[in-house]
Amino acid sequence: MAFPEHRPRRLRRTPALRALVRETRLHTDDLIMPLFCKEGIDEPAAISSMPGQFQHTIESLRKEAVEIAEAGVRAFMLFGVPATKDAEGSEAWSANGVGQKAIAALRGEFGDDAVVMSDLCLDEYTDHGHCGVLNDRNEVDNDATLERYRRIALAQAEAGAHVIAPSGMMDGQVAAIRGTLEEAGHADAVIMAYAAKFASALYGPFREAAEGAPRFGDRSGYQQDPANADESMREIRADIDEGADIVMVKPAVPYLDLVHRSKRDTGVPVAAYHVSGEYAMVKAAAANGWLDERRSVLEILTSIRRAGADMILTYHAKDAAAWVRADG
Ligand code: PBG
Repeated sequence: MAFPEHRPRRLRRTPALRALVRETRLHTDDLIMPLFCKEGIDEPAAISSMPGQFQHTIESLRKEAVEIAEAGVRAFMLFGVPATKDAEGSEAWSANGVGQKAIAALRGEFGDDAVVMSDLCLDEYTDHGHCGVLNDRNEVDNDATLERYRRIALAQAEAGAHVIAPSGMMDGQVAAIRGTLEEAGHADAVIMAYAAKFASALYGPFREAAEGAPRFGDRSGYQQDPANADESMREIRADIDEGADIVMVKPAVPYLDLVHRSKRDTGVPVAAYHVSGEYAMVKAAAANGWLDERRSVLEILTSIRRAGADMILTYHAKDAAAWVRADG
């Protein structure tokens, strides 16, 4: 044979040919925008390690969410940042807590035209910054924490959250929350479980945003070791058995193997959380002129979808939506 048998470049020759054989498309429907709402401030406060992101007031939260929805993104993951903290994190389940007010504000704005999701955890609410309550040895007490998670789930459902997203990595958290929601007449509430969540350095900027850095120790007693993948699959299967409707892998890009395995082996909708540190890396490099922000973001988000994610939580959502639309 005088010529190569395979000529893959034939299909790459023109934009129209490339579009014809493109396997993965980013769509605004697949994006979820995380938003922070802080109690006791009059003006939105910029988060320095996450350029373009803010701690919002209720009013600025509403306004920003409307703009994001106009850009085409109709799902929001809410984080509350309370003015006062205690050892238990009791503001997390207060009916007047900032998290509940944020949920109610967006439900009031959108009704069922957007999906209002609420992170369920204690780290923003406890004075020690851990994701659960502590025992007398200063360790996070799993089962005592589950009792608090039940109260938070109920408060969030009552405030109007469509989706409740437990992120504390306590054993049995999905079953506990599902049981409480069923008993209280909230059988329709969707649970999106942070199922494979790693003890990652890439949450650094989030801790400024949510003011939830642990005052001592770290989270490796409950979050996963980045070296383990089979363990993630056990976590994902357990959460599905306990009643999760959507499972999440977090962070996203370093753990795309798990996004892929989760989708392939379970068929359950899988979300990937492109976290604060992943966002900050792109923003910092772009600010220095080292990366083209638009191309980098669209490549990263497309790759997360290609690996198998049905949906992506990303702080780039608003910009990405505008770019996706402009690209037609
Ligand atoms: C816990 C929670 C964290 C994030 C989401 N939920 C922080 C942590 O586990 O330490 C991180 C999100 C991000 O980095 O963007 N409530």
